[in-house]
Amino acid sequence: MEYRQLGRSGLKVSEIAYGNWITHGSQVEEDAARACVQAALDSGVTTFDTADVYAGTRAEQVLGRALHGLRRESIEIFTKVYWPTGPGPNDRGLSRKHIMESAHASLRRLQTDYLDLYQAHRYDHETPLEESLRAFDDLVRQGKVLYIGVSEWRAEEIGAAVKIAGELGLDRIVSNQPQYNMLWRVIESEVIPLCQEAGIGQIVWSPIAQGALTGKYLPGDGPPAGSRAADPRGGGDIQEYLTGPILDRVARLRPVAADAGLSLAQLAVAWVLQNPAVSAAIIGASRPEQVRENVRASGVRLDPALLQQIDDILGPEIRRDPALTASPAHRP
Ligand SMILES: NC(=O)c1ccc[n+]([C@@H]2O[C@H](COP(=O)([O-])OP(=O)(O)OC[C@H]3O[C@@H](n4cnc5c(N)ncnc54)[C@H](OP(=O)(O)O)[C@@H]3O)[C@@H](O)[C@H]2O)c1
Repeated sequence: MEYRQLGRSGLKVSEIAYGNWITHGSQVEEDAARACVQAALDSGVTTFDTADVYAGTRAEQVLGRALHGLRRESIEIFTKVYWPTGPGPNDRGLSRKHIMESAHASLRRLQTDYLDLYQAHRYDHETPLEESLRAFDDLVRQGKVLYIGVSEWRAEEIGAAVKIAGELGLDRIVSNQPQYNMLWRVIESEVIPLCQEAGIGQIVWSPIAQGALTGKYLPGDGPPAGSRAADPRGGGDIQEYLTGPILDRVARLRPVAADAGLSLAQLAVAWVLQNPAVSAAIIGASRPEQVRENVRASGVRLDPALLQQIDDILGPEIRRDPALTASPAHRP
């Protein structure tokens, strides 16, 4: 496993991180969840990503149990706040009240005294940015949070936060967590240039497009048994990748991966790691063998001719429009 700097901060992260959205507390049983975490640890993964909202708060509990007893200094625990964790109007968003309450609940569920990275899961259009940034800064000063980050914020939203933090002397954002993979490149034109300038690293999610880039979903066939797309708890978001034109083109990537001595999943993870703006790729897994396969993408170098072949094959199916990054206009 290779390790990278998280943006311009002093924190090192494993360039492949393990995340538990959809899986822990939902799609997979506790023993499989623990086996995936153990496989990640055995492979040198030190960085673990979750969120208060995953599996109705159960995902943090599962991860907390799986990591319990490990040397705390040897791992980095990342979680997030924004999406609803309860029925009330203050159980969501980035108000001072919800940030403080959700942070304390996450600390309890994760069984830890501090979070290495606390991320605003979306931009909250109903809370003044200064209020959210001050609340995050207070958590940092209290030692409950070491670094702060955002997720799926637009370039102008990140820029506004950097400016306010600079003016008020508040702790600055060190990371952004966007979706990024061979098919979804919407951060390349605006978010990445701004973040590079501001020293903000990308910790990218769904590097294999939730499984769509593994080649296991075949054009014209139903999803294979046991896959995310076949599971009613799978969230449904994967469907946008399971179109005939996308799956046809993904199938054409198979020989490209084979020529490079990689599986399709490894090629997909290696592809996001070629971008120096990326601090880590967060992989998900429903079983430990997937972790063991995908972590082998760490350290792989892809040559420019191969990258060009990928672009030529995926062609019009690649999404690049920065406007596709969006947070809800109102709190959910
Ligand atoms: N900030 C955000 O808004 C946000 C949103 C989404 C995710 N995330 C973060 O990113 C993490 C990863 O997201 P993700 O789970 O969508 O990532 P992903 O790595 O693109 O997809 C993981 C899924 O693909 C399948 N898979 C993985 N390796 C495979 C292999 N070698 N062969 C066949 N199938 C394989 C598994 O599903 P099946 O076996 O069930 O098919 C696995 O659960 C999340 O856990 C979370 O931490 C953040």
